[in-house]
Amino acid sequence: MSALSLTALSACQQEDTPPQQFDPAFIEIGREIAQTQCVSCHSIGQSGDSPRSDAPPLRTVLGIYNAESLADDFREHIHVGHPDMPDFDFTVKETEGLLAYLTSIQVTDK
Ligand code: HEC
Repeated sequence: MSALSLTALSACQQEDTPPQQFDPAFIEIGREIAQTQCVSCHSIGQSGDSPRSDAPPLRTVLGIYNAESLADDFREHIHVGHPDMPDFDFTVKETEGLLAYLTSIQVTDK
């Protein structure tokens, strides 16, 4: 997996983080956020191009970013290289929801 290098970079990686197991309720929370806050630039479904050609479809971002480092970014507002990204301020619940949703839509080419 290409996320390995990112994992290695994050010094405080926690080994005891449970594997991805998401409550459908969280996926719903995340879907809601994506539909209201991300869809103007990103494709948020399992197919289709992003409205903004420079914004990757969200179904691919976990292939670029390790889920945990992405979670950290979300928790501390998003700092994942968004030039015109609005300043998101997610609660823990929203962050988990967003990650759950992102995970649920990933299409990895494995
Ligand atoms: C105003 C437009 C806009 C909105 C709204 C937006 N994004 Fe983005 N996003 C971008 C652009 C443009 C990029 C590509 C940035 C780059 O590659 O430098 C991007 C990239 C990303 C990436 C990959 C980071 C990278 O550097 O490749 C993630 C993850 C992401 N967005 C998540 C989200 C999430 C989650 C939301 C909703 C909560 C969201 N974005 C809302 C424009 C937006």
